[in-house]
Amino acid sequence: MLVLGIETSCDETAAALVRDGREILSSVISSQVPIHKRFGGVVPELASREHLDKIVPVVNEAFERAGVTTRDVDGIAVTVGPGLVGSLLVGVSYAKAMAYALKKPFVGVNHIEGHIYSVAFENPPIEYPAEALIVSGGHTNIFFIPEPGKYKVLSRTRDDAAGEAFDKVAKLLGLGYPGGPIIERLAREGNPHAVPFSLPRMGDGLPDFSFSGLKTAVTKYVRESGVTPVENGGEPSQAIKDLAASFQHTVVQSLVKTMARVAEENYPKTLIIAGGVACNGKLREVAKETAGRLGLPVYFPSPHLSTDNAAMIAAAGTVKLEAGQHDALDLNADVTLRLQNMDLAEEAAKRAGVRYRL
Ligand code: KG4
Ligand code: ZN
Repeated sequence: MLVLGIETSCDETAAALVRDGREILSSVISSQVPIHKRFGGVVPELASREHLDKIVPVVNEAFERAGVTTRDVDGIAVTVGPGLVGSLLVGVSYAKAMAYALKKPFVGVNHIEGHIYSVAFENPPIEYPAEALIVSGGHTNIFFIPEPGKYKVLSRTRDDAAGEAFDKVAKLLGLGYPGGPIIERLAREGNPHAVPFSLPRMGDGLPDFSFSGLKTAVTKYVRESGVTPVENGGEPSQAIKDLAASFQHTVVQSLVKTMARVAEENYPKTLIIAGGVACNGKLREVAKETAGRLGLPVYFPSPHLSTDNAAMIAAAGTVKLEAGQHDALDLNADVTLRLQNMDLAEEAAKRAGVRYRL
């Protein structure tokens, strides 16, 4: 089955052609980072205008690179939410128009489910039940997946997403946007134990995340210790590198410790870590060590599949299209779409004899 994937939920216009949910024939990504950079974050109005400009050339390029035509496509998968409404609408409208014109089935895909399927290309098939940590600029969640397509959220962030914390801390240190890759680079030359930030703890004992307290602790440290933020692209001081390394260390510890705790309580057979923050080398290193200790395989997408792309949307959509699931032409973008079908997940977990926290 050949599926065209389309992704426009945030600041990347992307299209991909994927065969049988596992083989990428082409994956084209037009990033808007240069446009949003000077604002230190994504400007929704600029994002939707840029998607409108880029959607046609990006889809055309995906077909050219794959060496196939629209006639060869068996179905279309498009991100339907969550995301920015103006951005989502560009992809959804384009996919609907194309499906109508070509008389092909199309299906809306949850962006987060797409991130989960980003590990489908370079790893062995996922063994279920699986546990997936999705860490991006907009999301930080752990899902329990008793079988394909069944999801239960076991952990969520109470405030900022992990990627958002990287971006905000980079901004307050004067480092630029997006913050994740810049902080990772500087952290390589810094001491992760220079500033002993404490790990966030939930008052109610749930395995949830919280990153805004850490951001406040970094702000307070900068103020009290007299560290000077970088100005006008200047050379970062050793104190900034140490701060970047200590911040990154704390985020990685929080993510991996929580992932391990949820695994110990719920007995998954596979761990998945995906989303933009999964590019982080330190996170990969520490997660692999921890997974090894737990005796579990951990799957990551390679970096170009970790950040937003359309191949992952095509892979997630293929499972639905193969099961005969289609959407009608009245499908609308859903800005706050959730990925959780708790009843189905619970029923499936019981069938599989799997225990998990309610
Ligand atoms: O998945 P993604 O492309 O978009 C969203 O759906 O949010 O994730 C983007 C986020 C940004 O916050 C960026 O700072 C973060 O991923 N990121 C990283 C790294 N590369 C990207 N965070 C930490 N380390 C990295 N190497
Ligand atoms: Zn994403």
